[in-house]
Amino acid sequence: MKRILLILTLAGLAACAKPQPQEFHVIPMPANVTITEGSFCVKGVAVAVDPAMDEASQKAVGRFVSALETATGSKTKAGKGGFEFVLNPELAAEQYIIDIQPKAARVEASTLNGFVYACETLKQMLPAAIYGSEKAQADWALPLAHIDDQPRFAYRGMHLDPCRHFFSIEETKRYLDVMTAYKLNRFHWHLTEDQGWRMEVKKYPKLTEIGAWRNGTVIKMDWDSNDGIRYGGFYTQDEMKEIVDYAAERGIIVIPEIDLPGHMVAALAAYPELGCTGGPYEVWTRWGVSNDILCAGNEKVYTFLEDVLTELMDIFPSEYIHIGGDECFNNVDPVPWDSCPKCGARMKELGIKKGPDAKHYLQNYVTARVQDFLNAHGRKIIGWDEVLEGNLAEGATVMSWRGTRGGIKAASKGFDVVMTPTDYCYFDYYQSRERDKEPFGIGGHLPLEKVYGYEPFDGMVAGSESHILGVQANLWTEYIATPEHLEYMLLPRMCALSEIQWCRADLKDYERFNASLDHTFEILDAMGVNYSLDCRGLIGLDREPARSEEELAEYMKNR
Ligand code: ACM
Ligand code: ZN
Repeated sequence: MKRILLILTLAGLAACAKPQPQEFHVIPMPANVTITEGSFCVKGVAVAVDPAMDEASQKAVGRFVSALETATGSKTKAGKGGFEFVLNPELAAEQYIIDIQPKAARVEASTLNGFVYACETLKQMLPAAIYGSEKAQADWALPLAHIDDQPRFAYRGMHLDPCRHFFSIEETKRYLDVMTAYKLNRFHWHLTEDQGWRMEVKKYPKLTEIGAWRNGTVIKMDWDSNDGIRYGGFYTQDEMKEIVDYAAERGIIVIPEIDLPGHMVAALAAYPELGCTGGPYEVWTRWGVSNDILCAGNEKVYTFLEDVLTELMDIFPSEYIHIGGDECFNNVDPVPWDSCPKCGARMKELGIKKGPDAKHYLQNYVTARVQDFLNAHGRKIIGWDEVLEGNLAEGATVMSWRGTRGGIKAASKGFDVVMTPTDYCYFDYYQSRERDKEPFGIGGHLPLEKVYGYEPFDGMVAGSESHILGVQANLWTEYIATPEHLEYMLLPRMCALSEIQWCRADLKDYERFNASLDHTFEILDAMGVNYSLDCRGLIGLDREPARSEEELAEYMKNR
C-alpha cells in the first residue's frame, strides 16, 4: 500500500511539478500578488464558465481554454472542480481576481477586459509553450496564488504607422496579439500620410487609386536616393472592421487617425482642388513632411473631411478620433495659407490678424470645425500637441509628443492628456549606441532602461495629474519595412511601456522586470514574434556580436 502511494505521488509530481514563488515573472507586474507553497495542475482540468458573463468574455475564456488544450495536449472537461470563471459586478472595469488553490482556481472580473487580463496573467504564469501552436512537454501547473490586479492608467496605448511602410492585416493582428499579452488597450492606427493614404473611402475612390501608391521609396537612409519602385497598399473597409473586431475581442479600442490639415499630400495628389494652389501634387517619395497642406479657406475641404470622417465613424466605434494636427507648418515661413486668397478671406472673416500666430489661429479654426462635427456625432477629438498652439477649444484631448511640456501645460489648463514624449516613447529610436550593428532607426537612443524609467507625473503641476489619461508609445516606420524589423523595434520596449501604463509607480523595479524578461523572450519565441536582445548585449537582427564576459560587462555599463 505504502509503495503504491509513493508511486502515485511521484507520478503526480512528474505530471505536475511545483513552480517556485520566485518564478513569478508576469509583466506587467500585478498590483497585489501572494504566492504560497504548492501547485494546481491544469492538464485536462475542468472548466466552468458563469452563464451571466457576456458573450465576449466567454469567448475570451474560450481562447484561453483552447490554448491550454493545444499546449497540454489534453482536453478540458466542462464543469466545476477546476477553473471557475465568475462574473463579479462589484469589481472595477479592468480589475480581476485570481485565486488558485490546490484543486481549483477561481477567476473573477466584471468586464471583458478583466477576463482578458486574468487569462493573460494565467498564461504568463504557465510555461511559455501556452503561447505556441503545438503540444509541449512541460510542467503544466500554476503556483498557488491570490492576485488582485488592476491598472494605474485607463489609456494604455501603442501606435503604428502603416503609411511610410505598409503592414498587412495579418501582421497588424500579430501586433495586437502582443499588445494583448501585455494588457495594452488602445491601438492608435495612423492611416494617412504624405507618403500614402491607407483607408478605403467609398465616396473618394481616388484616395486609394492614387493616394495609396508612391513612385518610389528612399533607399536605406539616403534621402537623395530613390528606388523608383511603385509601393503602397490600403485597407478595405471590411478589413478595417476585421481589425476593429479582432481588437475589441481582446479589450482593445482602435483609435484611427486622419492627420489634418498637414501630412495630407497623398490626399492632395488624388484631389488637388483641396490644396491652396490646386497642385499638381505627387504622393511623396521621400521622408519628412510636405509644406503642402489642406486649404483652410475652401468649403470643399470641410465637405471632404466630413465625408471621410462619416465613413471612418461607420468603421471605428471608438469614442476618440485622432485628427493629427502635427507639423502642419513644417518650419516654413510663409506657409501656403499666407499666399492663398481663400485662406486670406477666411482669416479676414474670422478676424484673425496677420502675424506669426495667424496660422495657429487658422489651424484652431480647422480643428474646431472638425471637433464640432465629431462632437455632433457623439465622438471626441484627440490631437498631437501642436493643436494646443493658439486657442484650443474645450473638450479636446492632447497627445504630448514633443517632450512632456505640451502635456504638462495642457493638463494644467484642464485638457485631458495622453503622454507620448519622444525621449521615452518613440520606438523608432535606436536601442543600442552601436548603430552600425542595429537595423535602421530614425535616430536618437532609447534603450530599454530609459523607457522603463519614465514617470508620467514628473513635472506635473500639482492637482493636474488626474488629466493624464495614460501613456502611449509610437512606432513610425520610415526605415522599418518588414514585420521582423517592426517587432525588433517594438519588443521588449513595449513590455517596459506596459509597466509604466499598468503598475503603480512604487511597484516598478527594473531589476525584477529585467529578470522576468527571460520568460517574455520564451513567450515571444513561442508566438513567433521577433524582439531585440540588446538588453542582453546582443545587437541587431542577427543578435551579434558574441562578447567576452568583460566586453559584455563594459557594454551593459555604457548602454
Ligand atoms: C509626430 O511624431 N509627428 C507626432
Ligand atoms: Zn488656402
